[in-house]
Amino acid sequence: MSQDTERYNVGGVWLSQPFKIRRLGHVGITIRDMDRSLQFYRDLIGFKVTDWYPFDLRFPEAMKDPAFRDAKTVFMRYAGDHHSFVLLNRPAHAILEADPARRYEGGITIQQMSWQVGTLREVVNADEWLHTLGVETQRAGRDMPGSNWHTYFYDVNGYINELFYGMEQIGWSGFSKPAPMHARLFDERPPLPQMSEYAEVNNARAEGVDLLSGMRDDELPETYDVDGILLARPFKVTQIGPIGLFVPDVDDTARFYQSRMGFRLTESVTYRGYTVHYLRVNTEHHSLALFPMPLRETLQWSAETTTAFIGIQVANFAQLKAAYEFLSRRGVPIASWPRELMPGIDYAFWARDPDGHHLLFYYRMDQVGWSGVPRARTTGHSDPREWPEVIEDDYAYQGMPYLGPLG
Ligand SMILES: [Fe+2]
Repeated sequence: MSQDTERYNVGGVWLSQPFKIRRLGHVGITIRDMDRSLQFYRDLIGFKVTDWYPFDLRFPEAMKDPAFRDAKTVFMRYAGDHHSFVLLNRPAHAILEADPARRYEGGITIQQMSWQVGTLREVVNADEWLHTLGVETQRAGRDMPGSNWHTYFYDVNGYINELFYGMEQIGWSGFSKPAPMHARLFDERPPLPQMSEYAEVNNARAEGVDLLSGMRDDELPETYDVDGILLARPFKVTQIGPIGLFVPDVDDTARFYQSRMGFRLTESVTYRGYTVHYLRVNTEHHSLALFPMPLRETLQWSAETTTAFIGIQVANFAQLKAAYEFLSRRGVPIASWPRELMPGIDYAFWARDPDGHHLLFYYRMDQVGWSGVPRARTTGHSDPREWPEVIEDDYAYQGMPYLGPLG
């Protein structure tokens, strides 16, 4: 059956896939030392832990092995989404997940890239469609904690993607869902329709569940005036992504993300003879950047991971400068990167996490509209030590706004 020429009704609109990715929702990475990573991602960057559990409830037998006792999965947020960043124990994953040679010994330290679609029907139809096309899938259902309905599948390199709908929202109280509500977990494609989350909460209340018995993280002393609000660090993360990956074949990989996931190619850049593809899912210049593997060595990037970068957006330019000063004063290694390889972003710096992942700190990205034409390249601003106090930027503060208070 030739699916490539088919069209699909997505909420009353014909599309070439039975779903539409709206944005990157969360990313999971494997790490070697949870305490060290929490110090980095929680204390320095400012993510809050919403839940954690022993390595993986899907492998109860392995949990009896003392070697796995300390292997946690930790869920973290910067806003309402229950998790935007997930930390997982690398040795445990390397042993237990299928086909470890392909994924972990090959340097894949991204455990998942999770893309938000609009409805549960899109998730279910996507799962069925990807199966039909022969895409290697991993699992479908609904995970707890987090409550999001999903399908997981591999790209042509073994990177795991997730399409999800319905992420649990953490509100003003800061509490995640109580454990008894995790009973509505699904480990297979769910039949439709499903009850609403509101109805699930009604049921929990009727059963006498304490709605404030979930997890609520602590915070360090809030001593920095961040645009009028006291916070524990002089900046606030307002979005995650884009993601940059080193891959063996950028063309083949780009084809997968375009034909199977609906990405659009914004532009390609040639650097020292290598081609880099920048792809988007919405109006952002790129949500995913694909770099040829040999470029990793040319750029002297970490050989420990095939992740080129993970984007971390902060609220404004002043906070970006403050983040640079804050992190560099605390000894976080800051790296440089050729200007040619950051189209769509003018001011940015790279901070290295304890496992060699590079976080791309920036404050704004070009938005690409109906014409699909990216704007002409801006001039270089790669060294934060040379940044001015105030900049000219007619394209500042466009795109998706951050909702809710900074802290
Ligand atoms: Fe996920």
